[in-house]
Amino acid sequence: MEAKDRHVPVLFQDAMDFLSVRADGTYVDCTLGMAGHGEGIARRLGPEGRLIGFDRDPEALELAKERLARVANEMGDQAPQVSLVGEEFSSIEEHVKPGTVDGLLADFGVSSLQFDEAHRGFSFQADGPLDMRMNTRSGPTAAQVVNEENERELADLIYEYGEERRSRRIARAIVRGRPVTTTGQLARIVASAAPAMKQDRIHPATRTFQALRIFVNRELDEIKALLEAAPKLLKPSGRLVVISFHSLEDRIAKDHLREGAQKGIWEVLTRKPVTASEEEIERNPRSRSAKLRAAARTASR
Ligand SMILES: C[S@@+](CC[C@H](N)C(=O)[O-])C[C@H]1O[C@@H](n2cnc3c(N)ncnc32)[C@H](O)[C@@H]1O
Repeated sequence: MEAKDRHVPVLFQDAMDFLSVRADGTYVDCTLGMAGHGEGIARRLGPEGRLIGFDRDPEALELAKERLARVANEMGDQAPQVSLVGEEFSSIEEHVKPGTVDGLLADFGVSSLQFDEAHRGFSFQADGPLDMRMNTRSGPTAAQVVNEENERELADLIYEYGEERRSRRIARAIVRGRPVTTTGQLARIVASAAPAMKQDRIHPATRTFQALRIFVNRELDEIKALLEAAPKLLKPSGRLVVISFHSLEDRIAKDHLREGAQKGIWEVLTRKPVTASEEEIERNPRSRSAKLRAAARTASR
């Protein structure tokens, strides 16, 4: 089975319920991926409706395009308009007019297409080139980061984005092990510098890989930029739905919504984040760490 067939959208029904799609509305899926959620939105729209999809990964965008074309074909003259943007979602204000959006969805993190393909270099489970870029057209690769940043900067980023307490030891081992060119090599270096402890349930390289991925893709800055833009783009009562996969992402969303609610910009619809049921986790282990937060734009400008 190919990665694209394995992909299951996370918290699908909750995302659709909170978006509360109106057939003639305009919806933005900021992270199309393989368009699992995107298809759900498209099918709830009618010919007056519009779906705008973003993905900075050219491979993902191509697959999403094919899937949405199949959906449009099935829907015939009831199909919505679909436009796709192959850029970072932080550029959303260049593509979407203020006050025109009924719902905005962002499902952060790595897709199974990216994670499961060794050549993309996201995973230490399969050996591949140390790349980790979602947007394969630009930016430094993870190999450039581990081979070119100085030891102190490496340690800081592993600590900050991986919440890894043994970051200094790991950074020292990476610098000694240079050049580091593959995911397998990096995983071995990290595991020997900071071996798994008895209580650890994750591979010793997990946090270092997470840190590099976040750094390479500027993930947290992207999320902040999107959340800044969202209230400007949404119509009054328009919905924001964000799904995050680790505490650094979720904290940004949580703080943004709390502060926005205090300023009267957001009405928060999820007092606590929505998480996957046992049954969903069973079907799709990736959903275990997912947290969904939703809010409605108030009328104030
Ligand atoms: C978890 S997947 C989304 C899966 C999707 N919801 C589905 O149902 O198939 C996240 C996708 O968002 C893309 N992505 C992540 N950050 C992005 C950003 N800042 N700008 C544009 N695309 C981004 C990734 O390339 C990836 O394909």
